[in-house]
Amino acid sequence: MVNSNIQAAEENLIHVYNRFPIALDHGEGMYLYDTEGREYLDFAAGFAVVGLGYNCRELNDALKAQIDRLYHTSNLYYHESCGEAAQELNRISGMDRVFFTNSGGEANEGALKAARRYAYTKQTGRYEFIAMENSFHGRTFGAVSVTGHEEYREPFEPLVPGVRFAKFNDLDSVKALVNEKTCAIILEPLQGEGGINLATPEFMEGIRKICDENGILMICDEVQCGMGRTGSMFAWQKFGVKPDIMTMAKAIGNGIPVGAFAMTEEVAQFSLKPGDHGATYGGNPLACTAVKKVIEIFEREDIVGHVNKVAPYLTKRLDEIVEEFDCVTERKGTGLMQGLAFAPSKPVAEVNSRAVEEGLLVIQALQNVIRFVPPLIVEEKHIDEMIEKLRKILSE
Ligand SMILES: Cc1ncc(COP(=O)(O)O)c(C=O)c1O
Repeated sequence: MVNSNIQAAEENLIHVYNRFPIALDHGEGMYLYDTEGREYLDFAAGFAVVGLGYNCRELNDALKAQIDRLYHTSNLYYHESCGEAAQELNRISGMDRVFFTNSGGEANEGALKAARRYAYTKQTGRYEFIAMENSFHGRTFGAVSVTGHEEYREPFEPLVPGVRFAKFNDLDSVKALVNEKTCAIILEPLQGEGGINLATPEFMEGIRKICDENGILMICDEVQCGMGRTGSMFAWQKFGVKPDIMTMAKAIGNGIPVGAFAMTEEVAQFSLKPGDHGATYGGNPLACTAVKKVIEIFEREDIVGHVNKVAPYLTKRLDEIVEEFDCVTERKGTGLMQGLAFAPSKPVAEVNSRAVEEGLLVIQALQNVIRFVPPLIVEEKHIDEMIEKLRKILSE
């Protein structure tokens, strides 16, 4: 029997997602359940969003209480938690000023505008962006303009002008693009959609140096790799270099649609002014309650410490898969954002579909990588369960 939900979706939604033929009903911890009652071990976390796992009671209760009091008001007024949520984000990120958005794409959109506004105030004549090949920053016009995948950009050209793409982890290719018009360099410290590529310390340090020497702003996109996933609250913190602007979303709200861009006071002084930017829903009471509660739980439960404890086990078990199966060529990434690269003989789309049939959710990245981005509460027993399912699929 065709699920009526699936049928209605197929008949009524614009077809931009190739969905798997299951309809999800509820979740608990590391597991999701579909409308037929089947269980799925989730190593996808709704695209690295649900860091605290499903049905986190404390978060649910805080959100429910907020819904009963006030879940929206405009940014013409203050509300109880907008200041505190921003304060908490600044505290954990080391930034000074935050703007709340509803998504990661919008956060990047705002970051790019903020960088242009900085150059405009300073009258530097700078407006160009350097972005990375294989990067992914979202689907809005600005964000897609700096996304390093031709196929995502081409159908929508002409895009935002003045974007040039350098090779990730190749400082010379960045240096070759820098000129007196360069306004900002944007990068993910750990590329997600681009196939799980981790920046080298030399690259991150080198970008910082190029920016400092040339009056360019460094923007880190932490939408996917931020919020504990790599074993520090934000991935750039591991490298000992601080961006001027950073963007975040996904796990900061554990699934409540909220994102943010944040900047240092130095940038803020010369950047967005009243009337330059806005978002009707941005940082509404529900979103800010989510951010505040998520950070509170993260710190109390030492989620980052847990990631550092459990991630080496994921690494070890994935390395075993590389050893065991010829079709798996490489393990990539770090922390709880890792991937396996496959030889062309093993189409990853098929592996992914078989995983769903086996009750395992993972995510494809590019044509040849399977991504593992579980809720950050994952334990060794879940990793063992995932590996057993994967071994079964790869043995076929
Ligand atoms: C690194 C990165 N930036 C930006 C985005 C876009 O975020 P959103 O889909 O919330 O607009 C994503 C989404 O996957 C992402 O991984």
